[in-house]
Amino acid sequence: METLIPIINRLQEVFLTVGTDVIQLPQIVVVGSQSSGKSSVLESLVGRDFLPRGSGIVTRRPLVLQLINVAPLEQRRQILPVNSLGCVGVKAEEWGTFLHCKGQVFADFAEIRSEIEKETERSSGDNKGISPEPIHLKIFSPKVLNLTLVDLPGITKVPVGDQPEDIEAQVYEMIQSFISNPNSLILAVSPANSDLATSEALKLARDVDPEGRRTLLVVSKLDLMDAGTDALEVLLGRVIPVRLGIIGVVNRSQHDINTQKSLEDSLRGEQAFLQRHYPSLAARCGSRYLARTLSRLLMHHIRDCLPELKSRVTALSGQYQARLSGYGQPVEDHSATLLQIVTKFASDYCNTIEGTPRYIQTTELCGGARICY
Ligand code: GDP
Ligand code: NA
Ligand code: MG
Repeated sequence: METLIPIINRLQEVFLTVGTDVIQLPQIVVVGSQSSGKSSVLESLVGRDFLPRGSGIVTRRPLVLQLINVAPLEQRRQILPVNSLGCVGVKAEEWGTFLHCKGQVFADFAEIRSEIEKETERSSGDNKGISPEPIHLKIFSPKVLNLTLVDLPGITKVPVGDQPEDIEAQVYEMIQSFISNPNSLILAVSPANSDLATSEALKLARDVDPEGRRTLLVVSKLDLMDAGTDALEVLLGRVIPVRLGIIGVVNRSQHDINTQKSLEDSLRGEQAFLQRHYPSLAARCGSRYLARTLSRLLMHHIRDCLPELKSRVTALSGQYQARLSGYGQPVEDHSATLLQIVTKFASDYCNTIEGTPRYIQTTELCGGARICY
């Protein structure tokens, strides 16, 4: 199944080249209050340390992150020179590129982080200001799933530093502009040590997705709950049921970040924690499970979008044809090519997932929760 996502990513690139954004492709957007763990969750999905994280407002511009699965370096050496992903000549196993740094390859992930920080400062200053203008980053790696992820600033109430008086409204608007896209999957991140009923993440998600068709709840900071409490009821969906599922995670603490605990150690620690505290749910929680779930949801989501995608391309094609014939000259029609790509994708894809359920059963995710929002 995963091999089909590059086609969608390719489609997106073609549309960008053509200069139209009429087709909105699925992407995963993290939302939540400030310091709920959004950037940490994204990092563990990517499997590499590269995002600025920490207490306070760290993420101050949207980051649109396209993960692209490439063959391991060894294999790429053998299949040179042809590579549609533009990684000819890149000698690294994994690397990143930024839209604002044309032609530059970042093989060092610490440099990726510092470039994000620099670029954030460039447009939003160095005193906690925010900007709605996204940073575009691509990460190429043999270890990633093909996903597009969006990291966003968190919801914050009280302006600090250079933040405007209406910081809360501005961040809301920025988040809304990403999650109101019906082709976004919303990853609502809510810390286990605060009341789910007051979750800003779920509130935002509900505004744009009242039926919960594209919202997944991630409960972070399971390790930071008060002694004598646990998140079992929450994870089972008995507090607030979430149709697509509720997944508990343990990210690295600030101490872990300060002491540079590796992501691998963190994932091991997370599994051990889940086994110890939530043995019945351990197989359906954790960052790795989250990654798999997202990948599956994304494929389902793409399938659901295909009819719409096709009719849009057809309509577009019709419009262009009409316009072109107005010039009285035959001109090559690129939208027909796009339609071919979409149609091929539809047939390949539908054959692949024929018979699989529309949504992951919530029971499958968290052992018995009701399937409603
Ligand atoms: P964001 O503001 O939502 O992007 O949150 P960050 O990912 O930057 O994390 C904010 C702070 O919370 C950092 O100091 C993280 O180390 C810490 N943190 C995030 N998730 C967890 C978790 O699951 N457990 C613990 N102990 N700390 C976490
Ligand atoms: Na933060
Ligand atoms: Mg962040």
